[in-house]
Amino acid sequence: MPLFDTHAHLTSDQLSDNLDQVLSNARQTGLVGMTAIGTGPDSSHACVQLADRHDDVWASVGIHPNDCKDSTESDWQRIVALASAERVVAIGETGLDRYWDDSPIEVQREWLAQHIELSFETKKPLVIHMRDCESDILEMLHQHQRDGQIIGIMHSFAGCQETADQCLSLGMYISFAGMVTFKKSDDLRAVAATIPADRLLIETDSPYLSPHPKRSQRPNEPALVEYTARCLAETRGVTFAELSQQTTENAQRVFGLSF
Ligand code: NI
Repeated sequence: MPLFDTHAHLTSDQLSDNLDQVLSNARQTGLVGMTAIGTGPDSSHACVQLADRHDDVWASVGIHPNDCKDSTESDWQRIVALASAERVVAIGETGLDRYWDDSPIEVQREWLAQHIELSFETKKPLVIHMRDCESDILEMLHQHQRDGQIIGIMHSFAGCQETADQCLSLGMYISFAGMVTFKKSDDLRAVAATIPADRLLIETDSPYLSPHPKRSQRPNEPALVEYTARCLAETRGVTFAELSQQTTENAQRVFGLSF
């Protein structure tokens, strides 16, 4: 089955040390694409280099909300320069995080606003991280939308139905990671069941949080996206083949890929 992992931190130490094996496991599982996600200028640059070397890897460039406190204007200029590269298909990881609270929320907001502008300029979708800040994110998205639209992906979605509905009405995609497979995640699965088929994406957010029943496997890796796909297929009452095909088509559409 064709699978597409829309969010993998392939240049993190835990995966990059063993990258040939990680990519080979992914291909054997049926992955036809992976998006390597940057969290700052260095990792974003590394993601672009990786995408240049592998036909089935694309890159997203940005500065993670937990890393934005010490980021500078020259860091941002590096992101802007990378953003126009051919293999760069998205802007992020950006967003807001009140859980770790590593950067003041006002600083996080400013950086998110810059990413949103860059997304409109480049016509590349945002990759948005949201943790313990649903109302803040919705406020930012509504404030910065153009013509009622935000081009983007809510990554590793763990929010409520109302938040999902508002993001969908802005034209966004909702991406689920391993958390949706956990036993305690009935509420999240109930939300996942309602997402329109053409707006649903899957991801690993590797190396973090492996999906059930591989939860003890560390690090998580793109090949394990299969388990999230299987869980979502069951939740939505479709076959694994249908779910895989649909989410892969959605990934191709949101990232503007034709293959
Ligand atoms: Ni991430």
